[in-house]
Amino acid sequence: MIRPTYVSTATDTVKLAAHDAPLDLDRLVPPAGAPWEVEVGFGKGKYLLDRAAADPDRRFLGIEMVGQYEKLMVRRARRRGLANWASLRGEAQALARQAASQVLGRAL
Ligand SMILES: C[S@@+](CC[C@H](N)C(=O)[O-])C[C@H]1O[C@@H](n2cnc3c(N)ncnc32)[C@H](O)[C@@H]1O
Repeated sequence: MIRPTYVSTATDTVKLAAHDAPLDLDRLVPPAGAPWEVEVGFGKGKYLLDRAAADPDRRFLGIEMVGQYEKLMVRRARRRGLANWASLRGEAQALARQAASQVLGRAL
């Protein structure tokens, strides 16, 4: 079964498929041009949230496949007023394959 994958930022949550490929996280997440850190499997997001709060000059991408954990982290990030993060709800290897095929599809 193909499950829809969602991308969340401080402002909204949408299906990944609703975005143009490849996903332009640089445009979606401030601060522009800041370096990214990635956490695969952030669970309830404690580490990701603490890092994002402690380092506003970096951006943080989290990937988590358990929907209830991912939604909890998104709620907490918004409640804390954090903006320098994005979250992908889905399985990391499948997401990497999807991203690769989007990029290759575009290149071809
Ligand atoms: C032990 S928890 C770690 C949580 C967090 N990193 C921490 O240190 O507190 C591992 C998390 O990784 C997630 N996970 C494991 N494999 C994954 C995968 N292939 N794609 C996305 N999430 C995954 C699990 O759902 C789980 O929430």
